[in-house]
Amino acid sequence: MEFPLRQGMLLAHTAVMTSARFVQIYREDGAALRQELARGLMGEPASVSPKFLYDALGSRLFDAITELPEYYPTRTERTILDAHGGDIAALVGRGRTLIDLGAGNCEKAARLFDVLAPLRYVAVDISVDYLRQALGCLQSQHPGIEMVGVGADFSVSLTLPPEAGRGERLLLYPGSSIGNFTPDDALRFLRQARSVGGAGGALLIGVDLVKPKPVLEPAYDDALKVTAAFNLNLLRRLNALLGCDARIEDFDHVALYNEGESRIEMHLQARRALTLRWPDGARALAAGERIHTENSYKYTLDGFDRLLRQAGFARTTRWTDERDWFAVFLAA
Ligand SMILES: C[S@@+](CC[C@H](N)C(=O)[O-])C[C@H]1O[C@@H](n2cnc3c(N)ncnc32)[C@H](O)[C@@H]1O
Repeated sequence: MEFPLRQGMLLAHTAVMTSARFVQIYREDGAALRQELARGLMGEPASVSPKFLYDALGSRLFDAITELPEYYPTRTERTILDAHGGDIAALVGRGRTLIDLGAGNCEKAARLFDVLAPLRYVAVDISVDYLRQALGCLQSQHPGIEMVGVGADFSVSLTLPPEAGRGERLLLYPGSSIGNFTPDDALRFLRQARSVGGAGGALLIGVDLVKPKPVLEPAYDDALKVTAAFNLNLLRRLNALLGCDARIEDFDHVALYNEGESRIEMHLQARRALTLRWPDGARALAAGERIHTENSYKYTLDGFDRLLRQAGFARTTRWTDERDWFAVFLAA
């Protein structure tokens, strides 16, 4: 009697997944999205949310950025995850649903598959086409893990579709993406992450730390100008999504460290006086005037620990690299 039952269980655990399921919530054709873009452009200063940096090309440019010698965050976070994957697994256990927020190429999560042995992997990203491709490849490499892709914009509200499944959840938010939120918005996001994690849930999050300007600024303004291309790609996005008439050659990429705010800022700076026009609006920019496109806040270890506790996480553990440039926090 015992043998067939065991065999059945074994079969259930080694079920072969040939393709990842995909749930697309985010769509780029809505009036709300055009309103959001127009509101940003009409603001003082003009701004565009960094979430628009990521389309299929933007995601590929970001991947190229992570290979640059100046861009330390990806390499450093990888080192920490590789060194402490076992410690992380010892604290959270194996067999959870691993939910990767802003998954990108899914590489960080994939590094943890061996130690965490997730039952299910849910990858969430606004860059829908890119995520589909990345997840398709990953599913074929790991047919034993059930995979679900979710094309969603979590900047306003972090909610997951039922396909994300139940069971104990480990939320992963790597890449120091939390730094793209202002500290107030980061707090709101962390509270939502705690609620999405549910009872017994945990959050593993990568955080970039305060460091000297000569290290920070080149990371966002590299010699090869890949980050410049990543930022300027936003103009193509404005043209495609809003019907705008921006010309890439009219703008320069600017990245600077605002020490008072503890953040890197990226801007697109007009090379000459010009007017951006779209079907139901226009924005004049003086020569040298900027469109603010991204913030990347840098935290201290204690400052981020406080933020996690304010968000309601009672237990936190953290690991850093030997230079204390980057930290990975586990919060429960
Ligand atoms: C800094 S990259 C990090 C990528 C990857 N997780 C890593 O660590 O290398 C930020 C990722 O978040 C995604 N993203 C940005 N804003 C988002 C939003 N509002 N909703 C969902 N995904 C978003 C981007 O498409 C991109 O893949």
